[in-house]
Amino acid sequence: MPDGHNLNEKEKPMIKTTDLVKMFTTEEVETTALNSININVEKGEFVSIMGPSGCGKSTLLSVLGLLDNPTSGSYKFLGEEVSNYSERERADYRKAHLGFIFQSFNLIDDLSVYDNVELPLVYREMPKSERRAKVEAILEQMGIAHRRNHFPQQLSGGQQQRVAVARALVSDPDVILADEPTGNLDSEHGKEVMGLLKQLNSQGSTIVMVTHSASYARYGNRTIYLFDGSVVDKPTNGNGELGKTPQPGEENTEKQLATEVR
Ligand SMILES: Nc1ncnc2c1ncn2[C@@H]1O[C@H](COP(=O)(O)OP(=O)(O)O)[C@@H](O)[C@H]1O
Ligand SMILES: [Mg+2]
Repeated sequence: MPDGHNLNEKEKPMIKTTDLVKMFTTEEVETTALNSININVEKGEFVSIMGPSGCGKSTLLSVLGLLDNPTSGSYKFLGEEVSNYSERERADYRKAHLGFIFQSFNLIDDLSVYDNVELPLVYREMPKSERRAKVEAILEQMGIAHRRNHFPQQLSGGQQQRVAVARALVSDPDVILADEPTGNLDSEHGKEVMGLLKQLNSQGSTIVMVTHSASYARYGNRTIYLFDGSVVDKPTNGNGELGKTPQPGEENTEKQLATEVR
């Protein structure tokens, strides 16, 4: 755990939301994507977020990641109210505090592995020699240093996600936010990336991860279940594998969940 924080900060939760609401209004339709969410994430936790498609997982992650503002409610990050930040303030805050990993990797195809990982440090206006040391160290740690001059399209999915993890980590973020980081990977590479996240967490990284997979959720210390925009108690179909309580007439929801488009 980085110990650059003062005592006061140490006592504050990394993330605390109170009655967080997010509505989307498009022409005639109004969607309540997040309906009064109250969650805490402490430093050093690895929290998984599960729930059926459309329940608000990505919306929650994008609000927690300051990619979007909530419609109402409070969001405190290390004790600071960030829910009303302007776009510019959010961008600065993201650069200083957050690392992102997405299902589709979101690497820049025209940049080499090295340049992709270096980018967050360039945005931070870090001197070049300092950048080089950090990028080399993280490429080494992720086991992709020998691919530093490759371009994303020349790598397997698993390797691309390693590069994306390296990019998320290189600026020492307070929290890593991952939205279905294994969604585009086969099970072997999926497990590899999960092992990597687990290892980072054991070294002190705080992680919030959205996943469709109950077995990947268990890599975390704790799971938050969402249903229809609300946090719900652990729902179950009897085997504890579900992020959704089957409704009358709804058969084998797990199968449905496994096959639906994410
Ligand atoms: N930009 C948007 N505009 C309108 N509706 C949206 C937007 N983003 C998400 N939604 C709606 O909000 C709900 C939650 O979506 P999302 O957070 O993507 O769910 P999940 O990630 O759990 O599949 C869905 O009903 C979705 O259609
Ligand atoms: Mg989603």
